[in-house]
Formats: sequence, C-alpha cells, structure tokens
Amino acid sequence: MAKQGDALRSWVKTKADQATRDVLQQRLTGTRVLSVTSGKGGVGKSSLVLNLSMALAERGQKIVILDADLGLANINIMLGNEPIYTLWDVVEQRVSLRDTLEEGPSGVRIIPGGSGITELARLDSAAISRIIKAFQELEGECDWLLIDTSAGISDNVLSFVLAADEALVVTNPEPTALADAYGLIKAVWEQDGQVALKLVMNRVQTRDQGTRLGSRLTDLALKALGQPVEFLGQVADDPQVARAILKQVPFYAAYPHSEATKDVRDLADRLLHRVPPPRRGGWGAFVRRLVENWPREINQDPI
Ligand SMILES: Nc1ncnc2c1ncn2[C@@H]1O[C@H](COP(=O)(O)OP(=O)(O)OP(=O)(O)O)[C@@H](O)[C@H]1O
Ligand SMILES: [Mg+2]
Repeated sequence: MAKQGDALRSWVKTKADQATRDVLQQRLTGTRVLSVTSGKGGVGKSSLVLNLSMALAERGQKIVILDADLGLANINIMLGNEPIYTLWDVVEQRVSLRDTLEEGPSGVRIIPGGSGITELARLDSAAISRIIKAFQELEGECDWLLIDTSAGISDNVLSFVLAADEALVVTNPEPTALADAYGLIKAVWEQDGQVALKLVMNRVQTRDQGTRLGSRLTDLALKALGQPVEFLGQVADDPQVARAILKQVPFYAAYPHSEATKDVRDLADRLLHRVPPPRRGGWGAFVRRLVENWPREINQDPI
C-alpha cells in the first residue's frame, strides 16, 4: 500500500514537473500569437477568445487579448467595460501601450484596438517602428497574444491571420458558415500563408456532428487545396453562453459546469499540449508582418 502511495506521489510529481517545464519552455520561446477568425460573422469568435483566454490563464499562462474587430470593441462589450484608451492613442503617442491594457477576468489583459486598427494603414515608417517597439516591450510579460478579428476575407482580416503563428478558424454547423470557413481557408492558401490553421466547430448539437463536419471540412481543404488544417475540437451549442453574454460576464466564470466551459477547457488543453506550431518571432515580428502587409491607402516608405 505504502509502495502504491509512493508510486502515485512520484507520478504526480513527474506530471507537475512536466507542466512547469511546459510553461517555462513557453516563456523561453516567446509569445505564441494566435488569431481567432471566421468566414461568416456571428459564429462565436469573441466569446471563444474571452473564455479560452480564461482557460489558458487557469493553466498558468499569461494572456493578452488584442481586440482587433474593425467595428465594435467586442471583448470590452462582453465584459461591460468602456475602454479608456485604444491602440489609436498609442499611435498618436498620447499614452504607452501599457496604459491601454484593461484588466479582464483571471488576470487576462485586453488591448482595445479601436480606430487604431484601421489607422495602421496610414502610419509612416517612424510610427510603425514605434508600434513595433511598444509591442516588443510587453513581450516578456506574456505567453499568448490572442487576437479577436472581424469576420470575412477582407484584406484587413487576412493580414491578421497571415501575420500570426497560428489561426483558429471558427465556424458553426450551418452550411453557409461552413462554406465561408472554407472560403477563408482558401484565401489563406492563395496567399501561401505560413500560419498554422486550426478549426473549431462551435455550437454543435452532438459530438458526432462536430467531429463529422470538422473532418469533412479539413479533408476537403487537404484534398482540394493541399492545405493542412488541424481539427482542434468543438464547443456545444449551450444556452448558458447567451445567458452569460446578456449578463456581460464570461460563461467560463458564470457557468463553470456548463458544457461550453468543459469544451473550452479541452480546447485549451489541446492548444497547450499538442505539438506547438512553429514560432515566427513573437509579438514584434507579428506586428512587423502585420503592418508590412496591411492594405495601404497611401504608399509609405518601406521600413
Ligand atoms: N457555444 C455557443 N452556444 C450558444 N450560443 C452561442 C455559442 N457561441 C456563441 N453563441 C451566440 O452567438 C452570438 C455571437 O457570438 P460572438 O459575438 O462571440 O460571435 P462573433 O463571431 O464574435 O461575431 P462578430 O462576427 O459579429 O464579431 C453570441 O451572442 C451568443 O448568443
Ligand atoms: Mg466578435
């Protein structure tokens, strides 16, 4: 019996050591930049970003969310916050990037993009360098940068997807959402994107439905385009999600035992423990790729 106890203790210790090593390794290799995107609007990106960030934070990860929706500041609305500063104030040199950070749940911090996102198109090379430097200064403080993008395959959205290390393509089981998710994957493939694509099937009625539709879409991308897309997993269609949104609290906190919370935990575990995608240089490199490929309104000097 004593021997069994020792074996169990040693197993627990090995597991704990491994988890600590994973976190330390993550810190050494820089921030993992993950954009969350979709072909069709309203499929659950912002809700996934917010709740997934909490699941990752619970696993010892330091998270910053960039609310990069070109329309409304989705994440802050979900939390019932009114941002004081946005990325635009950083571009205009009124405040530092650190001043824009809003405290979210579980220690997650949020950068409200606001009009700063669209204005990236107007920056001259000096302003671009300032933004890159500002992002680099925060780099050592975070393991993940999660980006909540707008829907669709506009050049602006694609720029975020292509600049990241990896992108979660979110869809739901509706045929129109699946078709638009495929359109987005195709648009990335057409650009010869180096980003690692992962698929999340949101609002599934059954596990079977999620797996079936997920595999069908990833198989099609591979066969028709030769584009690998990993099926990361699914989130149940859960009435608690809408309830939490109405209360302006994340479902992860309001309904910790809900199906959706369980599924988001599984997604976080898979993101952390499956083979990580190739890192492409952390925040600084991400911002540089982003602004270099950002659709220009006027011609700027190359950096
Ligand atoms: N797993 C789920 N179960 C039930 N309802 C959900 C789920 N995920 C999202 N929803 C519903 O879908 C709505 C839209 O979600 P969300 O705002 O996250 O989508 P979005 O993709 O960010 O939209 P947009 O393209 O407008 O930014 C939510 O208000 C919520 O009611
Ligand atoms: Mg949104």
